[in-house]
Amino acid sequence: MVARNEGRASIAGSPRAGTDMNRFITIEGVEGAGKTTQAARLADALRRDGHDVVLTREPGGTELGRSLRSLLLDESSLAPTPQTELLLYLADRAEHVERLIRPALERGAVVIADRFSDSMIAYQGHGRGVAIETVRGLDDFARGGVEPALTFVLDLPPEDGLERIRATRSGDRLENEDIEFHRRVRSGFQAIAAENPERVAVLDAREDVSTLAGRIADRARAHLGSSK
Ligand code: TMP
Repeated sequence: MVARNEGRASIAGSPRAGTDMNRFITIEGVEGAGKTTQAARLADALRRDGHDVVLTREPGGTELGRSLRSLLLDESSLAPTPQTELLLYLADRAEHVERLIRPALERGAVVIADRFSDSMIAYQGHGRGVAIETVRGLDDFARGGVEPALTFVLDLPPEDGLERIRATRSGDRLENEDIEFHRRVRSGFQAIAAENPERVAVLDAREDVSTLAGRIADRARAHLGSSK
């Protein structure tokens, strides 16, 4: 008998029939851009429209992922090398996709993820300097063909985002990287947006929270309406 792995699309990464990727939406951006607030506002708006919505985040969307999140972000943890850091984020993603995202898409839910693969290109690729092709290849393996159809990048100067964070709490391991790192991350997101104009919408994160939430909901509704 041929061994089959029902949990994954395929090792080569093609999506399994029945996974409706049009309903997979991601929210990305630099630190302190307000992604988490906007992801929650979008989830509320789409639930009010009658959608079954799963709101999740990376790292930490699964039980194992929550342990990986604290290994990755706690200031008290041993700082991983860039390679180790990449592999830990990938482990979180592989677990997240198979245990939560793919099953939710298969049952017809809208999935909103606060960060996904674009963060890896921006942080480990542009930020840490791991070759982008290496990041992409490993990420393809971890995602198993699952990819967002719509992505919002909340953009603002990294100084502004970090100031917002430091006004309320002390930063985590990545937030405490130097400003040049955060500038490379921001340029990384801008490059991703330029390469994927159909999928990625860049929004000014300095806009008022409700105005921004309205723009995001309008765009997501237009997308979901046209992709039913
Ligand atoms: P946040 O959810 O509070 O934004 O924190 C997540 C941190 O993890 C943030 O600093 C970005 C970072 N990150 C990566 O470096 N690579 C990744 O692939 C993901 C998903 C997040």
